[in-house]
Amino acid sequence: MKAVLVEPQQRLVLGDAPDPAAGQGQAVVEVEAAGVGYFDLMNLRNGASSVPGVEVVGRVEDRRRVLALILSGGYAQQVAADADQLYPVPDTLDPADVVALGVNAMVAEGAVRRAAVAPGERVLVRGASGGIGVLATQIAHARGAEVTAVTSSAEYGERLRILGAAKIVDRTRERPEETYDVIIDTAAGPQVREHLELLRPNGRYVLCGGTAGVPEPEAFEPLMRDFHKSPTLFAFSLTSVSPEERRKSWDRVLKLVADGQLSAVLDRTFPLGEAAAALQHVEQGKSFGKVVLLNE
Ligand SMILES: NC(=O)c1ccc[n+]([C@@H]2O[C@H](COP(=O)([O-])OP(=O)(O)OC[C@H]3O[C@@H](n4cnc5c(N)ncnc54)[C@H](OP(=O)(O)O)[C@@H]3O)[C@@H](O)[C@H]2O)c1
Repeated sequence: MKAVLVEPQQRLVLGDAPDPAAGQGQAVVEVEAAGVGYFDLMNLRNGASSVPGVEVVGRVEDRRRVLALILSGGYAQQVAADADQLYPVPDTLDPADVVALGVNAMVAEGAVRRAAVAPGERVLVRGASGGIGVLATQIAHARGAEVTAVTSSAEYGERLRILGAAKIVDRTRERPEETYDVIIDTAAGPQVREHLELLRPNGRYVLCGGTAGVPEPEAFEPLMRDFHKSPTLFAFSLTSVSPEERRKSWDRVLKLVADGQLSAVLDRTFPLGEAAAALQHVEQGKSFGKVVLLNE
């Protein structure tokens, strides 16, 4: 099969690789589309040498279409996946759209649930134009929250309004000034502190990503200073979620899609052979939604 191989200096090239064999409790997936994300970029920066890619959509032996979550190897024509990490996909959905949901939808859905977002609450989403952010915005809106999306341009703001954001903050020109019941933060970085300070009494802050880097330890000082407001800080990673809970989350995501309350947001597709360009595009941080590799 063809797969994206990691050469010295972390150069990505499309080359030949042995067809994967299904081990005990595994299935081989014929990959139609693979997600490209920040996680792949971080792995490569940290020196990973295996074929990148942690989520694919494709068909298994009995021709069922599935979403498969794997540890690596998704940028390929085939990949072996654990059977308990295969999630059903209705044939009515486009494979690229399903990947654009994929892990990001489970993270967004899980973050909104952890925060127990209730109707009428004010929710701030940081990194709103990102793969997770566009979905968190829609899911919080579907729960009846008033969503403020923090983004980086007027154009993205307009697109986020269409997805359900009631208010927009353009982070290149302004800072949020209201207070919030819930903050869903995929960016983290030095601005965690000033955002923690925006929590209302009994507010919940869900950290679920770090595109802007790791916050200083002092960033968390408002948690103690605002003790009287009983703030809650969650760090939420899908890694800690059991396969059974992931399955339930995926079912809820598909239900939201079927009900017309959630749609996949695809930024761009690239052919498998252009994986390096796809990753470079993700690295630029200017995508609106998800970047996907297609096997053509
Ligand atoms: N918790 C989990 O289980 C889990 C799973 C997968 C990924 N992640 C992590 O979640 C994070 C986001 O992933 P993603 O796929 O949504 O990324 P993405 O598609 O690259 O989007 C990130 C967004 O963050 C915003 N941003 C970038 N730099 C920023 C900065 N300096 N300050 C403030 N905002 C900034 C941008 O949105 P705007 O232009 O709209 O501001 C950008 O579109 C990554 O760190 C990823 O590794 C977590």
